[in-house]
Amino acid sequence: MTKTAIITGASSGLGLEFVKLFAKDGYNLVVIARNEEKLLEIKQSYPNITVTVIPKDLSKPNAINEVIQEMNAQNIKVDVLVNNAGFGLLGSFESLSIEQQLNMIQLNVSSLTELTYRLLPDLRMSKSGKILNVASTAAFQPGPNMAVYYATKAFVLSFSEALAEELIDDAITVTTLCPGATKTNFSSVANVENTIMFSNAMSSEVVAEQGYHSLMQGKRVVITGGFNKIGAMAAKFLPRKTAAKIAKLVMKEN
Ligand SMILES: NC(=O)c1ccc[n+]([C@@H]2O[C@H](COP(=O)([O-])OP(=O)(O)OC[C@H]3O[C@@H](n4cnc5c(N)ncnc54)[C@H](OP(=O)(O)O)[C@@H]3O)[C@@H](O)[C@H]2O)c1
Repeated sequence: MTKTAIITGASSGLGLEFVKLFAKDGYNLVVIARNEEKLLEIKQSYPNITVTVIPKDLSKPNAINEVIQEMNAQNIKVDVLVNNAGFGLLGSFESLSIEQQLNMIQLNVSSLTELTYRLLPDLRMSKSGKILNVASTAAFQPGPNMAVYYATKAFVLSFSEALAEELIDDAITVTTLCPGATKTNFSSVANVENTIMFSNAMSSEVVAEQGYHSLMQGKRVVITGGFNKIGAMAAKFLPRKTAAKIAKLVMKEN
């Protein structure tokens, strides 16, 4: 029977790359993002699979409820969940708008958590349920001038690793993808295009492929790129204060 994957943030960047990888393997798709036009383009591009388009702003508190209602109305069950939608913002905590930072927590943390909770029964029924949560190398240390973003990604990593262990006997795997700087719309949305960190960003195709293969293999955590792996390892051994100072430095203008 054809399997179904649900992908949040499917309209661009890593999410769009995940769409291509799942479609190539014959999965039916549920695609979610705010940009309906882009989601309809995906549907048109893949006439041989079923693509269900759910345009939704996942930073709204009732959004996941509405997504689940729509899926129930269409009797859609999923085998794979990709929690990918997210955004960051560069700037001191005080200088950024509190509304935008709370929206970020709602999208990067609360919606991811709620969608996972609400879809776990489907994933259990699937007998080969898989979850891919997109965190970041930001998860490994505090991030001055992107304080809330880094904290949201630390949540995603910690939550996902704990859930993977809870579900170890249930045949549901949870994989956390931790990309470093990657060429997508993320950098212009976050206003980090001219930072040292983004001076050598990886291609979104390569990052998504690594995430996809790790998901299919049921790996726990994948950090993309050799340099990012070393950085994440170093953050484990450095004092947190030093790691925070380095994170602050790499987010400076190049
Ligand atoms: N690129 C990087 O350097 C990098 C590094 C580490 C981690 N990440 C993570 O990778 C994930 C994907 O980001 P990306 O790099 O592919 O950036 P992107 O190209 O900006 O894609 C972000 C996706 O999330 C969707 N999205 C944003 N706000 C949304 C909202 N309120 N409701 C629903 N969907 C929303 C966007 O669609 P709409 O605008 O149509 O809503 C888009 O499809 C994010 O979680 C990001 O934190 C990225």
